[in-house]
Amino acid sequence: MPPKLPSPFYPLIVFLALALLFLHSSLLSSPNAQRKDLSRPTPSCDLFNGRWVQDLGKPPRPLYDETCPFHRNAWNCLRNQRDNMGAINSWKWVPRDCVLERIDPPRFLTLMRNRNIGFVGDSLNENFLVAFLCALRTADSEAKKWKRKGAWRGAYFPKFNVTVAYHRAVLLAKYEWKPRQSGPDGEVKGIYRVDVDVPADDWAHIGDFYHVLIFNTGHWWGPDKFPKETPLVFYQEGKPILPAVEMLDGLKAVLQNMAIHIHRAFPNSILKFWRLQSPRHFHGGDWNQNGSCIFNKPLEESEILRPEQLDMWFDPSNDGINKEARLLNGLIKDAIQGSHIRVLDLTHLSEFRADAHPAIWLGKKDAVQVWGQDCMHWCLPGVPDTWVDILAQSIRHSLRN
Ligand SMILES: *[C@@H]1O[C@H](CO)[C@@H](O)[C@H](O)[C@H]1NC(C)=O
Ligand SMILES: *[C@@H]1O[C@H](CO)[C@@H](O)[C@H](O)[C@H]1NC(C)=O
Repeated sequence: MPPKLPSPFYPLIVFLALALLFLHSSLLSSPNAQRKDLSRPTPSCDLFNGRWVQDLGKPPRPLYDETCPFHRNAWNCLRNQRDNMGAINSWKWVPRDCVLERIDPPRFLTLMRNRNIGFVGDSLNENFLVAFLCALRTADSEAKKWKRKGAWRGAYFPKFNVTVAYHRAVLLAKYEWKPRQSGPDGEVKGIYRVDVDVPADDWAHIGDFYHVLIFNTGHWWGPDKFPKETPLVFYQEGKPILPAVEMLDGLKAVLQNMAIHIHRAFPNSILKFWRLQSPRHFHGGDWNQNGSCIFNKPLEESEILRPEQLDMWFDPSNDGINKEARLLNGLIKDAIQGSHIRVLDLTHLSEFRADAHPAIWLGKKDAVQVWGQDCMHWCLPGVPDTWVDILAQSIRHSLRN
């Protein structure tokens, strides 16, 4: 028997012992115990490497619903009564080495007070913008539509004096339709002239209005947008590039020139991001061949990582759509390497989410018959809300440093 202790101390001793035990085990059990404040992303924190985890308990509700006034009908999957919206929003992206926080709209807009954010590129950036506007609106019910300076769509948040808008420039560079003037009747009905060194008008004049810019281009660089009869023809310094170059070399020239333009036109104090491709998920055929994306859960890791699986899932003719996305990503990374443009690599995390496109729920009776399924854009609320969380966290992190 130990020496008799005065009884009032017993509970205290037991408590201290338990506390020590707990402290000890929690330090030992987690390899991350050394890491300081997990909520502060460090430069080495890679938000793009992780996995989707389903929250089967009570997943946090999306920040907005079908009543958000900034929706685009075809992506308003709640209103269009898409199946599985609950399941789509029950998955959470969990980065491997850091914590991705959900955007806190009042806090974020307070940080951005008197600053503006611009998206430039194709409809996937518009998809991104709509998710962003709907989330931010929850902090300012007075938010109103804003469309100026070449913007296609946007909103002004008066409580914080913040504007967030999208400039549509699908190739980033200027391009225009030139019908065939003369010559023998051939296959070619005309050309699209692309000036690889001239930014499209829609964003050429935004000046210093924006404090944060997010660029993209990608899915227009293909034969389904510009087939043989109406090809892209590339010009530089006002003259045709000779010998004529193929589409991918044209894209390379555009990317290089746009990166130079962005560097010259916008001072380093402006935060610049380039978001990479989000993949399309047409299964069993492309968009015009009854390709389908009716899945009820994300793809498994093994389904997207092995090349032969990629072919199986994404294109029966072994010309995988996501290989294309990866190819373009390589060109984009090469072009912006060494610049002040930060990469938002949304490709990998989005690749899993074959289940989260509007598919056949497009809000219009004949849309599927005419256009096929939409396995390229994303349901809102849905995956783009994760893009928003990543962007908000990256902006916060960049402004702090
Ligand atoms: C609103 O923000 C702009 C910068 O985007 C600034 O020039 C202007 O002075 C601000 N207005 C007010 C009322 O603070
Ligand atoms: C797509 O499906 C429709 C109806 O099932 C069919 O008539 C058509 O031939 C299909 N098209 C292709 C390219 O498979």
